[in-house]
Amino acid sequence: MKKEQLLYEGKAKRLYQTDEKDVLWIEYKDSATAFNGEKKETIAGKGVLNNLITSLLFEKLKGEGIESHFIKKISDHEQLVKAVEIIPIEVVVRSTVAGTLAKRIGLDEGTKLPKTIVEWYYKDDDLGDPLINEDHIEVLGLASAEELKLLKEKGLQVSEVMTAFFKEIGLDLIDFKLEFGRDENGQVLLADEISPDTCRLWDIKTGEKMDKDVFRRNLGSLTEAYEKVLNRLGGVKS
Ligand code: C5P
Repeated sequence: MKKEQLLYEGKAKRLYQTDEKDVLWIEYKDSATAFNGEKKETIAGKGVLNNLITSLLFEKLKGEGIESHFIKKISDHEQLVKAVEIIPIEVVVRSTVAGTLAKRIGLDEGTKLPKTIVEWYYKDDDLGDPLINEDHIEVLGLASAEELKLLKEKGLQVSEVMTAFFKEIGLDLIDFKLEFGRDENGQVLLADEISPDTCRLWDIKTGEKMDKDVFRRNLGSLTEAYEKVLNRLGGVKS
């Protein structure tokens, strides 16, 4: 497999074409951003940690019957994925109040929700990824009603599997963000990444935050926190 031209460079990843149709090459970068790019730093080792963690989680989900765009990890900071057209909706799933939800509805961070909820955000940097509803999605033509139903179902399914999985390693999955894409047949697949950049993970015993809030809120070393997550998942750097 050969890496070909750069297709897209995002905040945390670079996406390349390959010599094989429908297969893309992803490189995880050592950059951390928050607040829609307002806070930005280079953090050596972060790309490797997120690639390894994402690879392990997509493999775990596959084992539970949840397919994603992930094909395989090819190095500590690279993976191959199936080409999909990303649906511009960030699917946020929450079981405990934190972050923007605490601000929006006035409940204390850490309050357990009576049920797991799903929110939609419009993936648009210029607009700052605003919260949107199903009518907005329909008028913007971002996804069909059937696709939305599927995104919600998959979001809740991923939540169930990952909550149980993280619990086994002493971590409380507070909330997370998923992205989905359509393959060449219009089939909706889980895509992007699942890592401490996109999940809130709190130590069940101590409440220690082991996710990007360490960076957002200046709570200490991001790589130390992510390494602890990787170690608990049984992952190792080669
Ligand atoms: O900031 P907020 O509380 O809305 O984030 C909810 C969850 O979605 C968090 O786990 C956060 O890391 C994730 N998220 C993300 N990318 C965004 C916005 C939120 O991964 N652009």
